[in-house]
Formats: sequence, structure tokens, C-alpha cells
Amino acid sequence: MANPPLQRAKPRPRLLRWIAVAILALIVIVGLAVLIIWLAIKPKRLVYTVEEGFIQNFNLTNNHLNATFDIVMRAYNPNTKVSIYYDSVEVSVTYDDQTVAFTGVEPFFQPHLNVTRLEVKPVAQYLPLKGSMAKDLGLEKSSGEVELAVYLKARIRFKVGDWKSKDRTLRVACDPVLAHFSSSKKFERTFCDVDL
Ligand SMILES: *[C@@H]1O[C@H](CO)[C@@H](O)[C@H](O)[C@H]1NC(C)=O
Ligand SMILES: *[C@@H]1O[C@H](CO)[C@@H](O)[C@H](O)[C@H]1NC(C)=O
Ligand SMILES: *[C@@H]1O[C@H](CO)[C@@H](O)[C@H](O)[C@H]1NC(C)=O
Repeated sequence: MANPPLQRAKPRPRLLRWIAVAILALIVIVGLAVLIIWLAIKPKRLVYTVEEGFIQNFNLTNNHLNATFDIVMRAYNPNTKVSIYYDSVEVSVTYDDQTVAFTGVEPFFQPHLNVTRLEVKPVAQYLPLKGSMAKDLGLEKSSGEVELAVYLKARIRFKVGDWKSKDRTLRVACDPVLAHFSSSKKFERTFCDVDL
């Protein structure tokens, strides 16, 4: 008389076990899929440096600044599968947290493992400066070097095979950049912070 209840009870744990196994398998499969996609798409951090920074046509008269900032940035895409569309790029130069010059860069496409040199010449034209700032800038000028910060802001999209990501904002900060006034002086390469 003890047999029938036992037989009826048996299938239930087995069913539960199957459900548990199925759920576990699903979790593992989804996890693996996410990991594979992540490994394939997760871009390595782009590497930005400032290779050249010097100032031409400098004139600081009556707290107004004229200057051309001659800047060469190096952008390295270390990814083996991810290429990048740069849809809009803006480079700005700040002195003492004030933007003194900015310029755009033509949109471009950066293949994987590519190095692209960005040569820009943002110009400050009759830019009014606060008195204290003009004084400090004048003092630095007479030392032959000026401490600037260079920022790059871009709208970019990633490309992996045929897949293209939505656009996102890339922010690059190079601070400080020791810009000099003579092209004969050796420029110290500056590494930048890259934020995506
Ligand atoms: C700067 O500009 C002023 C006015 O245009 C000029 O008198 C002066 O000589 C210039 N200074 C330099 C260093 O070029
Ligand atoms: C700065 O440039 C502007 C326009 O080119 C010019 O009119 C002005 O005299 C210049 N100022 C100085 C101080 O050189
Ligand atoms: C990087 O890509 C740019 C634009 O596609 C190209 O002009 C340049 O030669 C490439 N640089 C290298 C090192 O392959």
C-alpha cells in the first residue's frame, strides 16, 4: 500500500530538476552571449597624445590676445575589430580655464589599429582677457612657455563588421600642455585623459 503514493510523488522532483537545469542553462547561454558580444564590441580605450604645441603670431596688447595655436594631436585606435566614425570633432584651447581658441576638424573615419595625426590651428583673434589673466599670460610668455589645456570633443560611432553603434560623445583632456613660442624648442609629449 506504500507504493502508489511514492510513484505519484516521483515525477515532481524530476520535473523541478529539469526546470532548474533549463533555467540554469538559459542563464549560462545568455551570460555567454553577453560576454561574447561584450568582448567583441567593448572598445579598448583610445590613446590620445599631444605631439606638438606652439604659439605663433602672439600679441597681447591692451588685454586683448591675438595668437595662433599650432597643435598636433595623435589619435591611436588600439582595437583590432572596432573602427570609428568621427562625425564631428572640435578642439579647444584653454588658458586658466578660459577657452581662448577653438576649431573644428573635418569628419573622418579611423580604421582599427590606425594612428591619425590631427593638425589644428585654432586662432584667438582680439580676444578680451581679464586683467589678471592678461598679466599672468604676459609673464609666462616672457618665460618662453605657456601652460595651456587642450580639449577634444567628438561625436563618434563604432563600427564592428557591418554593425554600427549609435553615436556617443568622446571627451579628451590634455592638461597641462606646455606650449612654447619657438618651433626649434623640443616639445614634451603630453598624454591625455580619454572619457567615453
Ligand atoms: C602687437 O600689436 C600692436 C598693435 O597692432 C603693435 O603695436 C605691436 O608692435 C605688436 N607687438 C608685437 C610683439 O607684435
Ligand atoms: C589682432 O587681430 C585683429 C584682426 O586681425 C587686428 O585688427 C588687431 O589689431 C590685432 N590686435 C593685436 C593686439 O595685434
Ligand atoms: C589612418 O587612417 C587615415 C584615414 O583613413 C589614413 O590617412 C592614414 O594613413 C592611416 N594611418 C595609418 C598609420 O595607417
